[in-house]
Amino acid sequence: MFGPTDYDDIADRYAAGVDERPWNALYERPATLEMLPAVAGLDVLDAGCGPGWYTCWLAEQGARVVGIDLSGRMVEIARRRLADELRPAARARARVARVSVSDLRGELADAAFDLIVSSLVIHYVEDLHAMFREWARVLRPGGTCVLSTHHPVRDMKAVEAGYLRPAMVEEEWPWLGTRMRSFHRPLAEVTEPLLAAGFTIEDVRAPGPTEAMREVDPKGYARLVQRPAFLFVRARRA
Ligand SMILES: C[S@@+](CC[C@H](N)C(=O)[O-])C[C@H]1O[C@@H](n2cnc3c(N)ncnc32)[C@H](O)[C@@H]1O
Repeated sequence: MFGPTDYDDIADRYAAGVDERPWNALYERPATLEMLPAVAGLDVLDAGCGPGWYTCWLAEQGARVVGIDLSGRMVEIARRRLADELRPAARARARVARVSVSDLRGELADAAFDLIVSSLVIHYVEDLHAMFREWARVLRPGGTCVLSTHHPVRDMKAVEAGYLRPAMVEEEWPWLGTRMRSFHRPLAEVTEPLLAAGFTIEDVRAPGPTEAMREVDPKGYARLVQRPAFLFVRARRA
């Protein structure tokens, strides 16, 4: 099982490397940002904020942001980042708390947010039905959720073992010197829980690599031309 300490152990290395890593900086982030509405003046939940890049970006754009993460170390790093990097006005709009994305009860009120942004987190969550029900509860009617997650064909061993069969998979992360576990899911195991929680799916994308990646990371570029690594979804709460 994925547990809170998995990211505690690698939080410092993740935070030190993620902003320069082409897969994040030149692939995941541009695609997520493209799917966001204008965020100024919105109440936004950054669900699984990690070291806080999105939390800071959102606050700098004029949103009021709550970043949450299960890893205590990630929360410490994100809080430090907010304190060090944000201008005072943006800092006043952002906070970070140690909360699970799938259990917001007692932490976040009903209809508190206009937008949930969740970058590369939900493949660590076992019960997406329960999680999306909670997200629907904390979103206002008409509120939006934009998420990125592992693409269903990311792990070819899992696909060959049975695309339709959800499974825990493990992969080597050489950039962090570790192995990480996550859930392989067919596409419908992401979309059905969203629909069941009352969301309307507005957009689903699985982009190839950006041109910016070609020179910086030719190996990563070639891998992403072969098949997408991440899936991007925007959904609206009724
Ligand atoms: C790949 S990192 C992504 C961090 C950040 N969103 C980013 O894009 O850099 C995944 C994050 O999800 C967090 N996470 C995993 N399961 C979680 C859960 N149930 N609740 C809250 N955070 C969780 C991990 O601690 C980690 O910080």
